[in-house]
Parts: sequence; C-alpha cells; structure tokens
Amino acid sequence: KSTKTDILDRKNAEAELGGGQKRIDAQHKKGKLTARERISLLVDEGSFEEIGKFVMHRTRDFGLDKEHYLGDGVVTGYGTVNGRLIYVFAQDFTVFGGALSETHAEKICKIMDLAMKNGAPVIGLNDSGGARIQEGVLSLAGYADIFYRNTLASGVIPQISAVMGPCAGGAVYSPAITDFILMVENTSYMFVTGPNVVKTVTHENVTAEELGGASTHSTKSGVTHFSCANELECIQYIKKLLSYIPQNCEDEPVRLPYEAMEEVRPKLNTLIPENPNQPYDMREVIEELVDAGSFFEIHQAFAENIVVGFARIAGRSIGVVGNQPAVLAGVLDIDASTKAARFVRFCDCFNIPLLVLEDVPGFLPGTDQEWNAIITNGAKLLYAFCEATVPRVTVITRKAYGGAYDVMNSKHIGADLNYAWPTAEIAVMGASGAAEIIFKREIAEADDPQARLQEKVQEYTEKFANPYRAAHRGYIDEVIYPDQTRQKLIRAFQMLENKVATLPKKKHGNIPL
Ligand code: COA
Repeated sequence: KSTKTDILDRKNAEAELGGGQKRIDAQHKKGKLTARERISLLVDEGSFEEIGKFVMHRTRDFGLDKEHYLGDGVVTGYGTVNGRLIYVFAQDFTVFGGALSETHAEKICKIMDLAMKNGAPVIGLNDSGGARIQEGVLSLAGYADIFYRNTLASGVIPQISAVMGPCAGGAVYSPAITDFILMVENTSYMFVTGPNVVKTVTHENVTAEELGGASTHSTKSGVTHFSCANELECIQYIKKLLSYIPQNCEDEPVRLPYEAMEEVRPKLNTLIPENPNQPYDMREVIEELVDAGSFFEIHQAFAENIVVGFARIAGRSIGVVGNQPAVLAGVLDIDASTKAARFVRFCDCFNIPLLVLEDVPGFLPGTDQEWNAIITNGAKLLYAFCEATVPRVTVITRKAYGGAYDVMNSKHIGADLNYAWPTAEIAVMGASGAAEIIFKREIAEADDPQARLQEKVQEYTEKFANPYRAAHRGYIDEVIYPDQTRQKLIRAFQMLENKVATLPKKKHGNIPL
C-alpha cells in the first residue's frame, strides 16, 4: 500500500541516486567521488540542508522529454564547516555529465542569492561537461546568470571553486571570477577550447592534462591556486582556507586564542647570509615570525620568486607577501606581480591585515618581460598595495632596490609600520651597478680603474647599503633586531587593530589590467 510518505521516500531515494548506480560506479572507477560524497566530506556531519532536490529540466528537444533526473545534475544547499555557515553546489557528473541546463543554473543562482543576502561563502564543486548541448542558448543564459552573480558577489562574500572533473568552454569563467581555484591532479582539467579544437586551429598535439590539468594550471598559467593530490586533499584545503577568512566583507576572520609568551626568535639573527648575493628561503623567515605551523601557502608552485599565503600572528589571521631570494633572487616579474596583487586585493576585500617581507633586487629586465607588459603588470601590485586599507606592516630583511622598494608596501604608499633589519639595503640599485653608472667617467679616467671602482662601490655601500638613510627620513619607523621581529609584529598588529582608512569617493578605480 502506497502512502504519501512512501512517495516522498521514493523520490528522495531516486534523487540521491543521481544518474543511477552504473554511472556512480563509473565515477568511482575514474577515482572520483560523487557530488553527494564530496558535500558530506566538506560539511560538518549532519549539517547539510539540500535545496531544490526535486528540480527537473524543462527541455523537450532531442528526446530529453523522456529523460529526467531529480535534481537535474547539481546538488545545492547549505551547511556548516567547523560550525560556520557556507553555501555549496556540487555538480553531479552522473547526470548528463554534470552538464549545465537552465534549471541547473537556476539552482546555483538560488544559493548564490541566499549567500549574498545572508553573508556567507559559496563553495562550488565543479565537475561538468559544460553547457547542456540539447538546450542551446538556454544553457548559455544560465552560465551568464552565474557569471553575473559571481561578479556582484566578488569582494562581498568569499567564493571558492574546486574543479574536480572537466571544466571547459565558457564554464571556466565562473571559477575564474571566484577568489580561489583548487584542482585535483589527473582527474580535473580546465580549458577554453579542448585538445581537438586546439589541433584543428593551431596544429598542436596536446593532451587534456598537458593543456589544462592541475599541474599545468598550478605552475605555468597560475589559473589554479592549489593542485591537490586527490579529492580528499582538495576538500581539506577548502576547509583550511575557510579557517583564515571571514564570512563576508563586513566580518572579521575567526581569531584563535593566544597566550603571551617569550617571543624572541634567535634563528632570525643568522638567517641572512653575509654575502648579499647569496640566497636564503623566505619561508624560513615566515615560519619564525608567524604562529607555529600556521603558514598556509597559496599559489605555491607558480611565480615562486614571490611567496604568498595566510598565517596567524597571536591567533589573528594575516596575509603574508614575501619576496623569495631563493628563486630568481626574489626579483619581481609579471607573474609574481599579478600573483601578489590578486592576493593583496583578496586580503583587503576581507579585512585581513597584510605583512610584507621584503628582499627585492628590482624588476626583471628583458624583452620577454617588457613585451609582455611588465609595466602594466607590475603596476597591478603597486595599485593593489596603494589601495589597501587593511593594517599593513613591512619588514625589509635585505634588499629594497629601485621602484620595487616603492611597490613593496613602502611607507609612501600607505603602509602603517615599516621596519628594517640591520642587514637592509635601501637604495636605487646594488652598489656596484650604481658606482659604475654615476662614477663612469671618474673610473674610466683613473690610473687604476678597477681600484677606483672598488673605492666607489665601497663609498656607495657605506652611504646607501643600509637602512639608516631611510630611517633618518622616517621612511623606516624602526631598525629592529631580527630576533625581536615577532614581538614587534604582534604589538604592531594589535596597535593597528582598529585602523580606519577610507579611499576617496568613486564608483570604482581603474586598476591597470
Ligand atoms: N551536454 C549534454 N550531455 C553531456 C554533455 C553536455 N555538454 N557532456 C557530457 N554529456 C553526457 C554524455 O552524453 C554522456 O551521456 P550518456 O552517459 O547518457 O552517454 C554523459 O554525459 C557522460 O559523458 P561521457 O562523454 O561519456 O564522459 P567522458 O568522461 O568520457 O567525457 C567530456 C567527458 C566532458 C570530455 C565529454 O562528455 C565532452 O566532451 N562533453 C562535451 C563538452 C562540450 O563541448 N561542452 C559544451 C561546450 S561548454
């Protein structure tokens, strides 16, 4: 005997089976989890509330009037992660390959609208063959509805995209607009046009993995911020990311308890090599400065000459940007500038104070950089810092040369506190280059040009290869002992806790793109 609740039971069971057991098995065989499995790994146990479970598509063309799946290829709803509200959508590859229909898009838009009204992050778990081909422009309209919302939500609520399967064509532009992208190695790819089209148009032979896999996008293009070994790791990274960021632009990140203690870090006194041309790993400096084990690097394998990531200092979430002397001497190039600029802007959107660790010999010279617009791209980082109103603290560990000195959160562009270590060299350029230029004639005319050059290098070094000229001017607030830096930073960020800074009234700025 069929009761009304039996019908509901049946429908629930049907919806939960998505495209059916066979397709679920096929999904598992590819090393992928289903949409529901992914959500249950993400949210706190028992916290997921589904919305739109029985939604069906409305297409009649190409026989689709006979093929319906409850939920229409995407599971949407809300839940909590470590007790904090999040909205989530997970595309279900077992239903039409997760392809996006008009109604599928409506479900995503519905939770995005709720997230905006209620001020909580949206997490998208993408796994889709793209636009539902049978629906034509209706499906394209659905994408555009999502892109539009992604853009309006940008800077209001955090948006995180995990790509856990195919993501091709126009579909890539939703993750691209969101704040962070995570990809899974070997089972996910993103590209605007796939290998077949590439072959026809450019005659290049390339596999999907090479063209747009996790390793490509985490190293070459920088499209993804994380390349994850598997889906479990991907979901763990999402949770970790959430732990550093607030619910929305008017909220503050969660603060962990902190007990005042001895904060001297002797290792920092010996970390900088005697020879200024020798590298060291800026990550080691970061690890000494922030709360133990709290550094969470973003974009780790892309533009490694700059290091960015979240950390905590005295329990408080901060964004760290550090030049990396261990790679290309920490020079700023196009990729490093865009990587750091985007990170700085994220932190500024979401009230996360910035710590900048500076050891930069300048911008990378060369035709490659100039022709690909290091001018425009370097300006992005400059602009991002100038515009940031969150608390901003800089520590110059060694080189601060040329225009890069200005760019890297200098006092002049709105940094709140600028410290330098005794090893800092704040100058237009390195001493030998400087001496060669300004004393060119004197050196050439000297009886012993080499000796005269050395003399002049020495003179320039004494004058400028130190932090004191800048400190006399007040461009550096204090020259500090490296081992005391953590203590200084804890106090500095506490002092800046209630900082209020506003920008001139405008519709929006025009960042050089
Ligand atoms: N619209 C409608 N159905 C789609 C679809 C789409 N965009 N993409 C995949 N599907 C369906 C397939 O027809 C298949 O259905 P079936 O199981 O009933 O046969 C199912 O989803 C699984 O797809 P399949 O091709 O078997 O999976 P795969 O893992 O071998 O390949 C893709 C996945 C995404 C590479 C492949 O499906 C594809 O190329 N899809 C089209 C991509 C595209 O051009 N999209 C439009 C532009 S945005």
